[in-house]
Amino acid sequence: MSEETPEALAGGPIHWLQQGRTPIGRGPRGVVRLGSAELLDAEEAGKQRVLAAFPSLAPSAPATIERRSSVLLETDLGEPSAERLVPLFPRGVPTPLSGSLSELLGQVEPAGGVNVTPLIRALRRQEAPLPFRPRAAAIQRALAQPLTVTLHRGWAHGAITAARLLSGGICHWRRCGPDRIQQGDLAAVGSLSDPAVALCALKWGWRFDALRAAEALIALGVVAPSGGAITLTAQAHSGLSPRDLTRILGCAPGTVSHRQAATALGRAKGLTIGGVPLRVQASPPVTPRPDLRFRQPRGRDPRLLLDRYHQGVRLDDEARASLTPQRHAEDIARRLPGQSIVDGFCGAGGNAIAFARAGKRVIAIDSSTERLAQARHNASLYGVTDRITFRHGDFFALTPPADACFLDPPWAGGDALLQQAWAAGQQHYRRGMIKLPRSFSVPDEAELRVYLTPEGFPSFVTTEWGLGAR
Ligand SMILES: C[S@@+](CC[C@H](N)C(=O)[O-])C[C@H]1O[C@@H](n2cnc3c(N)ncnc32)[C@H](O)[C@@H]1O
Repeated sequence: MSEETPEALAGGPIHWLQQGRTPIGRGPRGVVRLGSAELLDAEEAGKQRVLAAFPSLAPSAPATIERRSSVLLETDLGEPSAERLVPLFPRGVPTPLSGSLSELLGQVEPAGGVNVTPLIRALRRQEAPLPFRPRAAAIQRALAQPLTVTLHRGWAHGAITAARLLSGGICHWRRCGPDRIQQGDLAAVGSLSDPAVALCALKWGWRFDALRAAEALIALGVVAPSGGAITLTAQAHSGLSPRDLTRILGCAPGTVSHRQAATALGRAKGLTIGGVPLRVQASPPVTPRPDLRFRQPRGRDPRLLLDRYHQGVRLDDEARASLTPQRHAEDIARRLPGQSIVDGFCGAGGNAIAFARAGKRVIAIDSSTERLAQARHNASLYGVTDRITFRHGDFFALTPPADACFLDPPWAGGDALLQQAWAAGQQHYRRGMIKLPRSFSVPDEAELRVYLTPEGFPSFVTTEWGLGAR
């Protein structure tokens, strides 16, 4: 059946292994796996099919194959050759398909056909935590609903990694064993909002995880979730205020809709604030919904950085990347008391200008002459140069006297520089505030304030000392 033998694929001799999910053959170039979920019970028949495909394996084939051994050739070699055994769609070519949901389900498992009864039974068994009532008629109607998806060929067995799924596309259900998929967590990797992924997740959930199947039905838009059924809980740094947490998640923890829960989970994914990962859980489980707008990069509208941007603001790349947006700089200026302020790392002047416009006298220090020149120029656009003394030099060496200090050290200097600046600020100034990356570990007892983009994304945090109760 194949001129390309497993030995050729593996680059060496193949050894049959009797353990069901253990690689059945291994060679210098990687692993060749002979396995398939839907034929777990095939036993001897499975072996015969492998041998029919690869007669070269016959001399080494064991007399009997254990129950969980199986039959289709899969390869982890990254080469498509073995895929001719699963002739579904042209490799690498995203294939748009239209049809009813049940027709499409038939496409992702051509051999199996579509029988809705096991799904409905499984859903019924899980009725309590489901976000909708699984009625047979509703699901039958859902399966008849027209849908268009783009299927990609992908790899199922072996490690299902995010990179693999994203580059190789989704897994065809046909080639996914229950444990393999669970390990890879298909829904966490590909988003269920991609109908093709939802289709495969449905196919998977159908047999092994009814709740996931239910989520897939919802994601495909063929079943509506009932409202208010999800309980959302969140754990975060103790200094994160409930108000900021709500803005970050897009909703307050508690009883929320399915959609709110999915958005909150998508937003919280990978976020660390004050050094503490933001952990959000939904019960019953919900698949996270990626929110690209939430994470859009800063600086998309330069007038958010400085509203006179188009009047000739000067910023080099580093200054642009690190400038405190005007709205935040004004808030900081309001909150930091004192008539005289040292801005120890003034950059192109984002904070210094805000302090001066708030009526304070500012000593603005920067170790870069270019950046200091930009700060002076930008301050002139706001008519506040007379309130700012610009000093070129190293903040740590200068530390001039003032009522309070504001410190925004370059984050590229790493945590050590941030710690050093924090310590120097506390040593030389009775009051002060330091701007830090959101992932920086801020001790529980320290004040933590989170600064969010208009979309609610936490762009930095500050902590302060000597300001007393706010
Ligand atoms: C994050 S930027 C400040 C941005 C500023 N807050 C703003 O809103 O425009 C940090 C600045 O610190 C300066 N810098 C680095 N090390 C320094 C040091 N030891 N003393 C003074 N300035 C320093 C860099 O040149 C850079 O311009």
